[in-house]
Amino acid sequence: MKRARIIGTGSYLPEKILTNHDLEQTLDTSDSWIVTRTGIRERRIAAEGENTSDLAAKAGAKALEMAGVKPDEVDLIVVGTITGDFPWPATACMVQQKLGCSNAFAFDLSAACSGFVYALTTAGKYLESGTAKRALVIGAEVISRILDWEDRNTCVLFGDAAGAVVLEAQEGESGLLSSHLHSDGKYWDLLYQPGFGAVHPPTSQAMEERLQYLKMQGSEVFKVAVRMLSEVAQEALAAHDLSSEAIKLFIPHQANMRILEATAKRVGFAPEQVYINVDRLGNTSGATIPVALDEANRLGMLNEGDLILLDAFGGGFTWGASLVRW
Ligand code: UT7
Repeated sequence: MKRARIIGTGSYLPEKILTNHDLEQTLDTSDSWIVTRTGIRERRIAAEGENTSDLAAKAGAKALEMAGVKPDEVDLIVVGTITGDFPWPATACMVQQKLGCSNAFAFDLSAACSGFVYALTTAGKYLESGTAKRALVIGAEVISRILDWEDRNTCVLFGDAAGAVVLEAQEGESGLLSSHLHSDGKYWDLLYQPGFGAVHPPTSQAMEERLQYLKMQGSEVFKVAVRMLSEVAQEALAAHDLSSEAIKLFIPHQANMRILEATAKRVGFAPEQVYINVDRLGNTSGATIPVALDEANRLGMLNEGDLILLDAFGGGFTWGASLVRW
């Protein structure tokens, strides 16, 4: 059976670092509140004129370089994002142009913070079915542009980044073993961007009501996130009759240190099995998992045959876990 194997990873972080102390200058907040409640110390912010497709293309180029795959050998590009360059066309098309992937078909996928796991799963199906041989899968966000910088409940939590993987259809035991995806639309308004879609077009009244910015009911999201992240991680382990000890590295969505720790504890992961970078990057939405995967890969933490569990949760609500053999 053909599997979608990860043969290259890449990530890109904007240069500008915004620390909690920087936020203290403009907002009624404190480093100690943010660190205690979230574990976040700093985050990256894209420069003016630096857009999601720029971050995505830079991460994608690094992944292609590691994989030794030329741009014209890519058949498919999927970008998981909720902060694309434009409402449409797809940011994936701009990435295709920037990288010169002239033979690829390209589309975006909207699943908020679960965007990368959804995109990886979708691309994996094209490879398993033989529709495509090589895919570039990217999670990329410039979420700083949809944050209300006057709302301390949300703006301290997020940051900008992009991460990418190159998938190749290969025979053998390594690759994407399974994905377990879920959604529950009854929670859609706990975490969303009210403007400017069909419901709230860009009128001056909508701007006055600040509808262009992300809205979140944090404590409600928190409770559901921990439950769903742990349940779907357990579902992935159970599907392969595995215990938590079998996993070399658990890469959960990096939203909040307390969510990560609570999830890891419920599923039974030891601290050394869990990859964490939320302290340095904050919540980069669809980019958290591929950035973490690339960092772990480049640190030499992953060896052939290792089992890696990716675990995502985001607006929608959407959530899902993917089990990968390296
Ligand atoms: O990617 C998935 C999406 N996002 C998430 O997973 C985030 C999920 N939620 C969370 O991470 C947490 O709920 C938060 C970090 C957002 C908030 O933590 P919490 O422990 O749930 O705090 P809270 O919402 O209960 O707020 C406690 C207090 C409030 O003050 P009052 O009403 O008790 O006086 C807030 O106004 O903390 C206040 N507060 C702040 N204070 C200083 C909220 N944000 C800040 C801030 N600085 N930045």
